[in-house]
Amino acid sequence: MKQLTSKELRATYLNFFAARGHAVIKSASLIPENDPTVLFTTAGMHPLVPYLSGEKHPAGRRLTDVQKCVRTGDIDEVGDSSHCTFFEMLGNWSLGDYFKKESIGWSYELLTKELGIDPARLAVSVFAGDEDCARDEESASLWQQNGIPADRIFYLPKKNNWWGPAGETGPCGPDTEIFIDTGKPKCSPDCSPACSCGKYLEIWNNVFMQFHKNADGTFSPLKQKNVDTGMGLERTVCVLNGLQSVYETDLFAPAIATIARLSGTTYGAEAESTRAMRVIADHIRTATMMLGDENGIVPSNVNQGYILRRLIRRAVRFARVINLPDDGIVEVAKVYIEQYREVYPEIGQNADKIVLELSKEAAKFQTTLAQGIKEFEKVIGYLPPECKRLSGKAAFRLYDTFGFPIEMTQELAAEKGYDVDIKGYSKAFEEHQAKSRAGAEQTFKGGLADHAEATSRLHTATHLMNAALRTLLDPNIRQRGSNITAERLRFDFNFDRPLTPDEIKAVEDWVNAAIKADVEIVCEEMPIEAAREKGAMGVFDNKYGDVVKVYTMGEFSCEICGGPHAKRTGELGHFKIVKEQSSSAGIRRIKAILEY
Ligand code: ALA
Repeated sequence: MKQLTSKELRATYLNFFAARGHAVIKSASLIPENDPTVLFTTAGMHPLVPYLSGEKHPAGRRLTDVQKCVRTGDIDEVGDSSHCTFFEMLGNWSLGDYFKKESIGWSYELLTKELGIDPARLAVSVFAGDEDCARDEESASLWQQNGIPADRIFYLPKKNNWWGPAGETGPCGPDTEIFIDTGKPKCSPDCSPACSCGKYLEIWNNVFMQFHKNADGTFSPLKQKNVDTGMGLERTVCVLNGLQSVYETDLFAPAIATIARLSGTTYGAEAESTRAMRVIADHIRTATMMLGDENGIVPSNVNQGYILRRLIRRAVRFARVINLPDDGIVEVAKVYIEQYREVYPEIGQNADKIVLELSKEAAKFQTTLAQGIKEFEKVIGYLPPECKRLSGKAAFRLYDTFGFPIEMTQELAAEKGYDVDIKGYSKAFEEHQAKSRAGAEQTFKGGLADHAEATSRLHTATHLMNAALRTLLDPNIRQRGSNITAERLRFDFNFDRPLTPDEIKAVEDWVNAAIKADVEIVCEEMPIEAAREKGAMGVFDNKYGDVVKVYTMGEFSCEICGGPHAKRTGELGHFKIVKEQSSSAGIRRIKAILEY
């Protein structure tokens, strides 16, 4: 067996598939761009869904990559030997090209020849068949031809041997999974890879994607037969180096060493502190990758931001268990920044943001954690001995006053043998939200005039930016979507690559020059034909009716639009682009603000 480092395994994998005609593509963002049903990219196939469904991929029909992934479903298991909330997935794909024979043959070759794993340590599972899809005898016989004996091929049902879709609908299919036999004795005569006793460790999954799962739960055949595979980097490095857990691999060892040094705790000496060290190492790595992602997020109370907040707060709580000083988790993040900046340049580029946001969030929580735990213990202390349930109100107070995510309260309660009245918690939460909504509506009414002016000015800025993009980048650019709030504009347009920092600066300068010129904004009504002749921008279909309004801003912009707008460009503050990102294939999205 070759004792490869994580860096060597990434390279070995990509080179192996590149040598077999696969284009090496870049990891996509951790935040999925076109799938509102999931919060994070959970697999290498996730950003490839359109291509698995039949769209043409610009790099061809054979692809390979290392994809950043987050899965928080197993968060409670983090701290054991193999579960992580962030992991890297090595993958190779056939988009309607090769199928089972090549896929299984190459997997076997890579594992046994390239990585030198003893074939006697491998076991595989294949799909047992049901009403949706036949038993996969073909894969079983291919494994046998390659050298896996029949008694190490397990037929398992959909629950185990079917993968996808990544969200609620999309491409999916039966799979064949590859396991390392850890050498532990069978836990029972029926012990199989379906069992969680730890004898078998899954390292690679080859999915034969032939179906699309529909919203009603039915499966339709896909246009093309694909292969989608995923190998866990952390687990495979662990196996190759004969280690007991992923936390001992080079992916975690430097962070664990830092935690040990700063807290004065010996890794492996004692179960509780070892688990705490692993949880901190895992959660801070995931937080670093989320904050530093190209579509990076920050902690908040909703969606992705809430998961990030939970991870950081959970890490802070476990830091207390081992007396890791308050700034310890930031030091751990710095270790990861150095470690990953070469593989994922965005981590290096966003280093300051990672450190700043992590410090802010940790500090926010550190001040209330101890008080919150005291409060928690007090509440539990008041309960009569026969009551093993924390009230919803108490759980909500811990959330609202001390910043305890509800999941954390549940965890703390469970450690002491209590559960939490979740229904009561949700009720208290909703009541509170209704109250603050009423408050917000009042504020909104009071500030409505300001609100309307702010949106008008941002609307004017949108026209100027649209003109700047066409003038500076490409005259074929058109608006593909627009959304304006009192705080910012959001504008989608057709363009097939990210803007460079210089281009972003040039667009800002162009718009700011138009603002500085302080030209009058003239609104005229005219027949659509006249607007066309005047050279006004707009979509010339039946959308507008016969007579349209045309807004002209000096030489800068002339566009068909319903308004309203500012009176002069000089009313706008300093224009600044705060974000430029992909919105969907071929469409970019810009968010910009006006500063006063
Ligand atoms: N998409 C497959 C998985 O995540 C390869 O296991």
